[in-house]
Order: sequence, then structure tokens, then C-alpha cells
Amino acid sequence: MQVTVLGASGRTGLHVVKLLRSRGHSVRAGLRSSGRADEVAGLGAEPVVADVTADAADLVEAIAGSEVVISAVGAPDPDEASVNLVDRDGAISAIRAAEKAGVSRYLQLSAQFADSPDQGDRLVRSILLAKQASDSVLQRSGLIWTIVRPGTLTDDPATGRVKIATHLEHGKVSRADVAAVLVAALDEPLTENRGFDVHSGDIPVNAALAAFG
Ligand SMILES: NC(=O)c1ccc[n+]([C@@H]2O[C@H](COP(=O)([O-])OP(=O)(O)OC[C@H]3O[C@@H](n4cnc5c(N)ncnc54)[C@H](OP(=O)(O)O)[C@@H]3O)[C@@H](O)[C@H]2O)c1
Repeated sequence: MQVTVLGASGRTGLHVVKLLRSRGHSVRAGLRSSGRADEVAGLGAEPVVADVTADAADLVEAIAGSEVVISAVGAPDPDEASVNLVDRDGAISAIRAAEKAGVSRYLQLSAQFADSPDQGDRLVRSILLAKQASDSVLQRSGLIWTIVRPGTLTDDPATGRVKIATHLEHGKVSRADVAAVLVAALDEPLTENRGFDVHSGDIPVNAALAAFG
């Protein structure tokens, strides 16, 4: 399967690229700039510049030919302007580009509480509101969507085990395990047109997805 990963150079994005490659998928690694092209090429992915804040036509071109898009994009700066530019407007632009490019399936890495964004301080609220806006556009798009809402992300090693539910209380999960959920969701039709929270847990990823569905 040809999959484009947006935010491929990110801490979660790199895990997604590695897992997709290990499962034999053909991966296009969407990068904000060409600076980290060698790193993703070294993982067996095809680097392509895909800045979600850039010209929409360029984004369509970057995605074209892919059956699936997985977005692990996140604002590079901890301020509201960056969040609105990348996590709201850029994420929406990427969804529209995927529609225009003829993509069928779109998996979005969102955030826990994006579906109830009256949480946290001003910056956290702005992140959640931005995610809520782009998640809503994805749900109303013509794409088959999956929205993964992790709790606080950590750099702990993969466990291959998670807890998944429509809504969970506060919790944490490693980026490696979130990547495993995103990649496993590709093979689990029960995750189509669904959104769910993810934490670390004790259920193997495939079983957790199947049980959620
Ligand atoms: N931190 C948390 O606890 C937490 C909790 C729940 C959800 N999340 C969400 O999970 C997602 C992934 O988090 P992470 O920690 O893996 O993020 P990360 O390491 O900061 O990676 C973000 C990725 O987005 C890319 N990016 C930034 N601006 C872009 C643009 N204009 N166009 C295209 N790509 C762009 C970055 O590219 P560069 O490498 O060039 O910078 C990077 O590849 C984010 O959306 C975040 O909001 C985070």
C-alpha cells in the first residue's frame, strides 16, 4: 500500500514510518522542509516536501498517488499563532489536499480532549480547539477517517499494549505505541470513521482495536 506520512520527521512520525516500512508498505515521508530528507530516506521512505502551511497545490502534488495519509503533524512552536497556523489551518489544508489527490483513507493524530476542548491553560485550549476544528473537517470530508486521540505523549519504549476507548480519563502513552495504533488501524476496518482515546495499557494493540470496534 502507498502511504504518505505527514510530519514524518516528528518523534511520532518517525515511528510510523519505521513501522510502515517493516510491514512492507511503500512510504512517502512528508517533510516541512528537505532538511531531514536523508534521515527518512535511510528508513526506506521516499522524502517529499509537504509543508501543510504552503501552497495547497504543492500539497496535492506531494500526496498524489497515495491510498492512505497518516498525519502526525504538530506545531513547531508553543504559541497560539503557530498552533492555529499548523494544527488548525494546515491540518485542514492537508485534509482538503488528500481529497483532491484521490486518497481514500486518512488517519489523524489528534489529542485527547480535542472533542471537549475546555481543558487546561490558554495554550492547551488553543491546541485542543485547533485539533477539534481539523478533526471536525475530517469527519465531514469525503475520506474514510480515523482520529486517534492520545493522552500525554512520552518517549518511553514501545510496549505493544494500550488502552483504547471513546473517552478515557487523563493518562499517558508512548509515541511508539501511538504509532503502532495508527499503523495497526490500517488493517482494522472497525476503526474506519471512528475516533478514540489511547493510553498505555495492557491489551495488545490489535486486540484493543478489535475490541473497541
Ligand atoms: N505532546 C503531547 O503530550 C501530545 C499529546 C497528545 C497529542 N499530541 C499531538 O501529537 C502530534 C505529534 O506529536 P509529536 O510529539 O510526535 O510531534 P513532533 O515531534 O513535534 O513532530 C511534529 C512534526 O510536525 C512537523 N511539522 C511542523 N510544522 C509543519 C508544517 N507546517 N508542515 C508539515 N509538517 C510540519 C514537524 O516537522 P519538523 O521535523 O520539520 O519540525 C514534525 O515532523 C502533534 O500533533 C501533537 O499536537 C501531543
